[in-house]
Amino acid sequence: MPDQSMQNSPPTPSPLIRFENVHKRFGSLVVLNGVSVAFAEGKTTVVLGPSGTGKSVLLKHIVGLLSPDSGSVYYRDMRIDHLKDRGMEPIRRKIGFLFQLSALFDSMTVGENVAFPMREHSGLSKSEIRDRVAERLAMVGMENTENKMPGELSGGQRKRVALARAIALNPELVLYDEPTTGLDPIRSDVINELILKLHEELKVSAIVVTHDMTSAFKVGDRLVMLMGGGIIADGTADELRAHSDPRVQRFIAGRADEEDLRALHRI
Ligand SMILES: Nc1ncnc2c1ncn2[C@@H]1O[C@H](COP(=O)(O)OP(=O)(O)OP(=O)(O)O)[C@@H](O)[C@H]1O
Ligand SMILES: [Mg+2]
Repeated sequence: MPDQSMQNSPPTPSPLIRFENVHKRFGSLVVLNGVSVAFAEGKTTVVLGPSGTGKSVLLKHIVGLLSPDSGSVYYRDMRIDHLKDRGMEPIRRKIGFLFQLSALFDSMTVGENVAFPMREHSGLSKSEIRDRVAERLAMVGMENTENKMPGELSGGQRKRVALARAIALNPELVLYDEPTTGLDPIRSDVINELILKLHEELKVSAIVVTHDMTSAFKVGDRLVMLMGGGIIADGTADELRAHSDPRVQRFIAGRADEEDLRALHRI
């Protein structure tokens, strides 16, 4: 007899990105030690984890800036980890990447920065690009700043311009690497609100790397925690708050463990 409960359960959304048993090391440093994780389409998934644990390394595998030593990475059903630059190009176009150090081109104006991906990768005319730049800057609350230089902007404003650039090509997926680091709580919250708004308006999927728990709980539909080379927790905010692993609890509460404290006393 067919299993009734299976027939009644809602269909599992197919993942947009999937890691299967990914290993990555740099020399003797093992960073990813068999990571398997899926990122659902249309959702915002937060990746948490201590500094140096491999969160940025994980994101770089999605855009082909790094490739695994073994294991595989999929974009929908397409295996992408072995693609060279030319093969990766159509995938990269679907992805907006807000890098950890927002990396605006300092010698270009704000407008030129946001226009850059459109000039490189779209068939848009000059006037279409001008309109799209204005529209994207307005979306992040930076209207009429086209002629400013990045050096004239605050850290939070730079992040917003970088975000306008990341969404310039109507991505399916936006990768945010520490979008609120270095910002005060109010400016951090502006970025959180923007992530939520873009999710709503552009219907994008998102992966947000952060160690800012306020931000994680605010923007994440789901949270995964990377630690010691693997995923040690994967669930909703409530599931993580109730997680039995003490490492998860310590991370959420921002508490050092005894090992950390002993190391501090040795300094
Ligand atoms: N290209 C590289 N070559 C050598 N080592 C690297 C490279 N990229 C990352 N690493 C190392 O891999 C480890 C994980 O780096 P990663 O940048 O992913 O950490 P992270 O979790 O993003 O940390 P943070 O929260 O501080 O940004 C670090 O020890 C880092 O020095
Ligand atoms: Mg990082």
